[in-house]
Amino acid sequence: MSFEQEARKNFPIWPIHDDDEINALKMVIKSGDWWCGAPGAHQGDNVWAFQEEFAKFQGAKHCVAVCNGTVAIEAALMGLNIGLGDEVIVSDYTFVASASAVIATNAIPIFCDINPETLVMDIDNVEKLITKKTKAILPVHLGGNPTDMEHLLEIAARFDLNIVEDCAHAHNSVYKGKKVGNWGDAGTFSFQASKVLTSGEGGAIICNSEDLADKVYSYIDCGRKKDQYFYKHLSYGTNYRMTEYQAAVLRAQLKKFPDQHKLRNENAHYLMKKLNDIDGIKTMKPTAGTTSLGWYVFPIVFEPQKFGGITKSEFYKKLNANGIPTDDCYPPLHSLDCFKNNNLKKGIDYSIANWGGEKSNSINFPVVSDVYERSVEFPQEILLADREKLDNIVDFIKSLKMKA
Ligand SMILES: Cc1ncc(COP(=O)(O)O)c(C=O)c1O
Repeated sequence: MSFEQEARKNFPIWPIHDDDEINALKMVIKSGDWWCGAPGAHQGDNVWAFQEEFAKFQGAKHCVAVCNGTVAIEAALMGLNIGLGDEVIVSDYTFVASASAVIATNAIPIFCDINPETLVMDIDNVEKLITKKTKAILPVHLGGNPTDMEHLLEIAARFDLNIVEDCAHAHNSVYKGKKVGNWGDAGTFSFQASKVLTSGEGGAIICNSEDLADKVYSYIDCGRKKDQYFYKHLSYGTNYRMTEYQAAVLRAQLKKFPDQHKLRNENAHYLMKKLNDIDGIKTMKPTAGTTSLGWYVFPIVFEPQKFGGITKSEFYKKLNANGIPTDDCYPPLHSLDCFKNNNLKKGIDYSIANWGGEKSNSINFPVVSDVYERSVEFPQEILLADREKLDNIVDFIKSLKMKA
């Protein structure tokens, strides 16, 4: 076991579960309804109920549950009719899925550099990336930190673009009085094992347009439509349905979520204040107007020269060796091997993208490249620990400075 894995044992072990999840699963098994069926051939209740509960929780009119957060993005884009010949502007600092879902639709992702303080898409860069082919913008609320949606909406309206918010990290993040996922045309969520609301795997799309919800539903359920015969396949669709098992666990987890979320937010503010007092450390800055944050990860950016020239990997090693768990930061999309070549999908011309070959040089994405080299991320579980443990993290980082 690595030092990092060992370190996790010092903090609450994620996911947190009790008899509620076990009983929920038992009930699914005993019921014999192991899948949700379709609206016209209704079987288990959990997926249908979870969709309603999650929509309500996120303050949206509609929710379509799916098997993971990657296909949630793909389905939202497909529902908006985005595909071949279209460009989608994506934040460069994210998990590969935010862009691979665009590739899945046959559209081309265009990478956008980030704001050095909030670590989300820098809105001032967006306009420069818009071409005649741009159809959508895909902001990623990294670590739950909302993108400046008010400003982004203004740009989208001016250029007649759709917005799909990648909310994989941003369950219950609130920006300017509205939960994220409701600012754009659609918001997509992940319930993968490390996420703050989880069933091991899982995803959802929320939106406020019935027409879009119907299109997304058709896409994820074999081209079916609500209120239609089971074997009526009206449009191209595939099977990305969520299972009853996933939904049963999610319904139990959703009940635990509000208390966990409150604690994560309180502890994040405590930690932010203490860490920002250390010269050479900056925590991710909540976007102006944010009143609640998903806190899927807690990123800090350090100044190596203030720590005796320490490298990022040394910083990580020292934290882990001292019992402090970390998460690896996402290598920026432009630097991933799959986006350095132009051969992702047969028959599609990726040469117009702002990545691939020389274009993938970090010089072209200066902020995210610099931030990535100087960032350390802590997993959300640390924010569920008691204050003494948080103080230990602060003290240890201070001690690194003193030794430097
Ligand atoms: C920002 C972001 N988007 C999308 C996804 C994809 O979610 P999933 O793993 O459920 O497919 C992830 C998963 O980690 C993510 O971090």
